[in-house]
Parts: sequence; structure tokens; C-alpha cells
Amino acid sequence: MISKINNLLSEISNISVSGQDELEAFRIKYLSKKGLINTLFDEFRTISPSEKKETGKKLNFLKQNALDKYNLLKESLQSTVNKKESDDLTRPAYPWNLGSRHPISIMRNDIISIFERIGFIVSEGPEIEDDDHVFTKLNFAPEHPARDMQDTFYISRLSPEDSSPDDILLRTHTSSVQVRVMQATKPPIRTISPGRVFRNEAISARAHCIFHQVEGLYIDENVSFADLRQTLLFFAREMFGKNTEIRLRPSYFPFTEPSAEMDVSCSICGGKGCNVCKYTGWLEVLGCGMVHPAVLEACDIDSDKYTGFAFGMGIERPAMLKYQVNDLRLYFENDIRFLEQFHTAL
Ligand code: PHE
Repeated sequence: MISKINNLLSEISNISVSGQDELEAFRIKYLSKKGLINTLFDEFRTISPSEKKETGKKLNFLKQNALDKYNLLKESLQSTVNKKESDDLTRPAYPWNLGSRHPISIMRNDIISIFERIGFIVSEGPEIEDDDHVFTKLNFAPEHPARDMQDTFYISRLSPEDSSPDDILLRTHTSSVQVRVMQATKPPIRTISPGRVFRNEAISARAHCIFHQVEGLYIDENVSFADLRQTLLFFAREMFGKNTEIRLRPSYFPFTEPSAEMDVSCSICGGKGCNVCKYTGWLEVLGCGMVHPAVLEACDIDSDKYTGFAFGMGIERPAMLKYQVNDLRLYFENDIRFLEQFHTAL
């Protein structure tokens, strides 16, 4: 009988269970009324009195051992159940701080959505460009002083004295994307190109060597300056409020003729004059004009049949106005204390 008890002891010590059913099976097999341990107690009654003392001790030990094991198994099963609960993938997520959109992205998305509503589609192009797409096809003559309007970061310059169409550079405006669109598609073209641009400028509160633009292009038969004005008025009122007025001042860009600069009535003082608009009542927002026929021809578009308008604006300045940011450098420093303030603007 002692050896039977020893066998059961080692059997029990090796048992593990992986679920409630196996735990119950353990209880029935060893601890129930008709279980193995009670059967041994029945057998105990039949052994000789001389064996009783030692065997009785051992039998009680076995019973206690089986009970302890049962409780242990039950507890460990309970804690795995708890653990599984904490692993429940359907529970709501822990409230992590998800961050917020960058103010420049918010502004860019606002501008895009206004133009998308009137049929413009977004096109994008490379930030590293060649001279041909950034300047030459846009009617900048090699020696044209207009190239100095946009101080350029060159990556490789083939002829330092005389710029070559193969020079590689960081684009100074996203008009380069519009050249690519004109080369790749036939009119009607109605597109806007948002993106990052680069100019060799000293960094200050009002200027940076990297900034963002959205430029637009519309080419079809019979597109007129009136269409340009109306499109820009729509944009200005959607962007700055329905009472906004615009004015167009003559300007110069090599790729548009005539060219203009658009001002909007100051949304802060309503045109009366304040320190934001420097007491003029107007804020300069974008450059625009009718696409120069030489640009259409350079991109294989028949300038006798088609006309078009183009416009381009920076994103940082209007975003400074909208969010009352007084230093443009804040947009690039990624200071969490600055970015956190745009949570609600999502
Ligand atoms: N490309 C000009 C700039 O970067 C903006 C512009 C675009 C002006 C289209 C006129 C027409 O300043």
C-alpha cells in the first residue's frame, strides 16, 4: 500500500491543468467520494494493525497533498483567466496622446478642399528638380534677371556662369509641378500643386529657406482674366470669410502676362487698418496672372487655341494670420508646447 501511495504522490506532483474541465477531472479522479484516495482509505481498514500507524500518516499526507495541489491548480487557472481578460483585444484602447495635425498641414488641407470643390485636382512632383522645369520652361531666359528673384539652392550646376537646363536644384516654387502636368496631359487642365519649396534666404521671424506653397493652374479654351478674378474671389471668401474683398495690383512674373498680386481685405480689422495689415486695410496673399503663351508652347500646348491662368501662394503667412503666430520659425522647430495648441483645430 505504501508503494501505491508513493506512486500517487509522484503522479499528482506532475499534474498540470489547462482548463476548468481538467481541474474537475483531477478532483473526481483523486478527491471525490469514489476517487483513488478514498479507495485507499477503504483499503486502509483492511491492513494489519502493525502497518496502520505509518500507512495512516502517509495516507493523510497524500490526501493533504492532493488537496493542496487542487487549490494551487485552481488558483493558477484563476490568474490565467485574469491575465486573458487584460489581454482582451476588444477592450477600448488606452487613452494615448494621439498628437495633432501641424498648423501648416491644416492650412494646406483647407486650401486644397476649397479648390477641390470647384473641380481642381491635386498634383505633386519632385522637390529635387532640374532647371528646365523650375525656370527654362517657365520662360526664365538664361540671363534673365528674374532668376535672381528666387535665390536657388543648386545641387549640381553644370555651367556656373551660364545656367544650363540640366542643372539640378531644389525647386523654388511648385510651378515646376504644373510644367510636368502640362507636359503629361492635354487641356482642359485644372490642378493645384501643394508642396515644400526652398530658397536661399536668411531665416528670420518672417522668412525661412524652406516653406510651403499651393499653386494653381487652369487651362482651357477661352479662359479669361475675369475667370481668374472670380476664382480667386471665391477662394478668398471661403478662406477668410464671406465679406472679404480682393484687389489685384499689377506685378511681374516671367511665366504670366499680365501678372498681378492679390491682396485681401484684412480679416482682423475688417479693412479699417490695424498693426497686422500695417494700417493699409489689405494683406498680400498671392501672385497670379494669365499663363504666358511662351510657357504653353514650351509645354506643347497650342497657345492660339488655349489660354489659362495660374496663381501661387505661400502657406506660412496666411497660417500666421489665422493662428496669430508671430514668428514663422515656430512652424519648423516642432516644439511640443507649440504643436499641442492645434489639437482643437483638427
Ligand atoms: N510661382 C510664383 C512664386 O513662387 C507664384 C505664382 C504662380 C505667380 C503662378 C503667378 C502665377 O512666387
